Amino acid sequence: MKKSKMRIALLGAGGMARYHIEGFREGGADVVAVCDVNPDAAEKCASDFSIPAVYSSADEMIAAEKLDAVSVIVPNAFHAPLALKALKNSLHVYCEKPPALNARETMAMAKAAERAKKRLMFGFCNRARPEAAALRKEIRSGRFGKIDSAQAMWIRRTGIPGYGGWFTTKAVSGGGPLIDLLHGVDLALWFMGYPKGEYALARTFDTLVRDKKFRGPWGMPTFKDGTCDVESAAHAFVTLEGGACLSLRCSWAEMVEREMMSVSLQGAKEGADITRKFGVDGDDATAEDSCGLYSMSSSGKRIDKPLTDKRDEKMGRVRCAANFVRTVLGKEEPLSTPEEAVELMKIIDAVYKSARTGAPVKI
Ligand SMILES: NC(=O)c1ccc[n+]([C@@H]2O[C@H](COP(=O)([O-])OP(=O)(O)OC[C@H]3O[C@@H](n4cnc5c(N)ncnc54)[C@H](O)[C@@H]3O)[C@@H](O)[C@H]2O)c1
Repeated sequence: MKKSKMRIALLGAGGMARYHIEGFREGGADVVAVCDVNPDAAEKCASDFSIPAVYSSADEMIAAEKLDAVSVIVPNAFHAPLALKALKNSLHVYCEKPPALNARETMAMAKAAERAKKRLMFGFCNRARPEAAALRKEIRSGRFGKIDSAQAMWIRRTGIPGYGGWFTTKAVSGGGPLIDLLHGVDLALWFMGYPKGEYALARTFDTLVRDKKFRGPWGMPTFKDGTCDVESAAHAFVTLEGGACLSLRCSWAEMVEREMMSVSLQGAKEGADITRKFGVDGDDATAEDSCGLYSMSSSGKRIDKPLTDKRDEKMGRVRCAANFVRTVLGKEEPLSTPEEAVELMKIIDAVYKSARTGAPVKI
């Protein structure tokens, strides 16, 4: 008898759903249902991507479909409640980033996954980019020696995702660019083997978050009377267990040349960076990617080794979702673990707390 395919359903039919659908299908699963509290969004997604069943209640969907897994692709405040519901129903969970609003919620999700003996993985999709995979492989070979420091950055010039919508409402998003653009911080920690944070010292700024000039090309609606109580930029210094440190900078609105994401590392024997300069004003033709290793020969000559010229315009989103399916099917190692998500969110919490109190925070 032919073995039936893994059955997965979507919770959330917004902007990110398309990447999950493509990745789950690529990994070998059937996307059997989509649920959204906005029935029109669910209907449209089902029709655009040929998904057979539509729901507006997660409970009804879970009861009616014989699911193996769900993906949680909703505003951040609903990540933990929906993931916990799914895990309680013995389903594997793929959850978009950030893992949740804070470390406390993320820990509850990690514990629930352990209790249910189910996979809980996150959309840390930049780990699935070809450059990131190539660099991680080099780091794992040991050629860097001990890594002393990392610098992680995701900065935008005009990149505020709407005004007054869920992204700018702290109670729903958990914060602004620090929690939204946490990919660089996650990548840096992942390259370093995920050391725990020790102390954080930070400042956040909300100078530009309500200035319409910095709105940018994001397709989010503007709500005239909506809330805008998150930062527009975050800058922090974090010390890590084992003696290393991480500096981070995340912004939706700063007066820089253009949007840029980068992670740099300094090892005892070698340094590296991975950089994406996004296209000017959203024009992909002007995007620039680079990833390389930097060292010195015994005679003091510089050695620059470009790593890969492969690039992924989908920023690893499809490959990351496919890895979830392949992990559940036992065909690949997971790209992310709940333990890493907890450590990341402890650092994010500490950065926000330090910015609030003006003092260093023990993590
Ligand atoms: N990995 C990445 O590169 C990346 C990029 C963008 C967004 N994201 C993350 O993906 C998630 C979704 O973002 P988006 O851009 O798709 O948002 P979106 O606003 O486009 O869509 C969210 C959808 O969720 C629905 N929804 C809200 N509450 C719900 C609930 N309780 N049950 C079911 N549906 C519900 C909304 O009606 C909406 O259709 C967020 O956590 C965001 O941080 C990740």
